[in-house]
Amino acid sequence: ETGMFTFDRGYTSTASCRSKITYIDGDKGKLMYRGYDISYLATKKTFLDTAYLLLNKELPTKEELDSFKEEMAKRSFIHEGMKKLFDSFVDQAHPMAILSAGVSALSTFYFDHLDIDSPEEYMEMANRIIAKIPTIAAFSYRYSNGLPIIYPDLQKGFTENFLYMMRAYPHKHVDLTAIEIKALDTIFTLHADHEQNASTTAVRNLGSTHAHPYAAISAGIGALWGRAHGGANESVIRQLEMIGTVDRVDEFIARAKDKDDPFRLMGFGHRVYKNFDPRAKILKKIRDELIEELGIDSELVAVANKIENIALNDEYFISRNLYPNIDFYSGLILQALKIPKDMFAVIFVIGRTPGWISQWIELKEQETIKIARPRQLYLGPDDRTPIH
Ligand code: SDX
Repeated sequence: ETGMFTFDRGYTSTASCRSKITYIDGDKGKLMYRGYDISYLATKKTFLDTAYLLLNKELPTKEELDSFKEEMAKRSFIHEGMKKLFDSFVDQAHPMAILSAGVSALSTFYFDHLDIDSPEEYMEMANRIIAKIPTIAAFSYRYSNGLPIIYPDLQKGFTENFLYMMRAYPHKHVDLTAIEIKALDTIFTLHADHEQNASTTAVRNLGSTHAHPYAAISAGIGALWGRAHGGANESVIRQLEMIGTVDRVDEFIARAKDKDDPFRLMGFGHRVYKNFDPRAKILKKIRDELIEELGIDSELVAVANKIENIALNDEYFISRNLYPNIDFYSGLILQALKIPKDMFAVIFVIGRTPGWISQWIELKEQETIKIARPRQLYLGPDDRTPIH
């Protein structure tokens, strides 16, 4: 029992983080999970294959995938007591607020967080949160819109089940086409991990203080919600709707280029990619296919296309390596899938959770875990304390 009082000496700035999970080459526009290129995983594998790979360091055999699917289905239900939490939110509460609270509340149902110190317990915490997040997410949406909740259907696959819980109504059949399920499954895969981005850094920071893993995931949800990060896909659609028509695009492109104007094009630019985000390339193809397949011919898509064509050829954007990022295309696809805007960042959370919890496990498996403690550059006044 003394284990809970032993800590590693010293601290580390998260900037010196070492990881074997994800590799990004921002100049070449390359992204790999555990050594597999993202385009291979997004086109030849499923999201659960990818989640298993992130967690277990190897792609699953057919048997391993089947038992992982069973584990996900078995764990997809949440404690009935959680419904009291959902009831406490006001109508139209943002689903990200409900999701963050729900995940944090999960920590009260499982383990005393000081006892989680074995690979088996790490994996149990990981499987549980990956399986339950879609249910909490769908319940958050249903509660926030005053709709009856739909429980998981154990006959459906992971991604189909989420869409079913979002769209089903007790009194009418819900149609889910294979192309929609595959598009969403690919979106989950493309979001599964991304090295030490802001939300993953938040998760690892809480991991370094030995906080409960579900408190760490809840912190990741909070960080991701920001419009500079995972909230960007919702902001992309809101911005396209605000611009409204193709003839207003030039005015907003000019504002985005104006140094004295804080207006930015949502869905453009990236901290690391100074080339096309490889995930954006894959999503662009899916967006075009889906729009054609679903026969979508909206002013919104025309506005997005005009912005994209201008930005890809304009000196201001080219000289600053500002390319469309994952959020520019995911927002348009989610809209085509009839997912409400305020659920876009929630979709990002469902995809990113295997990455977050794999990064948390990797930190816990380290020989020593030093508490994250980045230092600062002090710019304040010199000591001016009065002598007497
Ligand atoms: C995600 O880190 C990750 O991996 C994140 C993510 C993940 O998977 O976890 O990839 C997901 O968060 C993608 C990013 C989503 N955010 C957005 O789309 C919001 C809009 N983009 C930006 O605000 C911005 O581009 C950032 C925050 C994404 C990146 O900012 P940087 O790299 O710090 O860029 P910067 O602020 O240093 O800007 C460099 C120049 C500046 O101009 P100058 O001062 O050189 O004249 O580029 C300009 C900026 O003004 N610029 C933009 C712009 N983004 C940067 N100008 C117009 N529109 C934009 N979107």
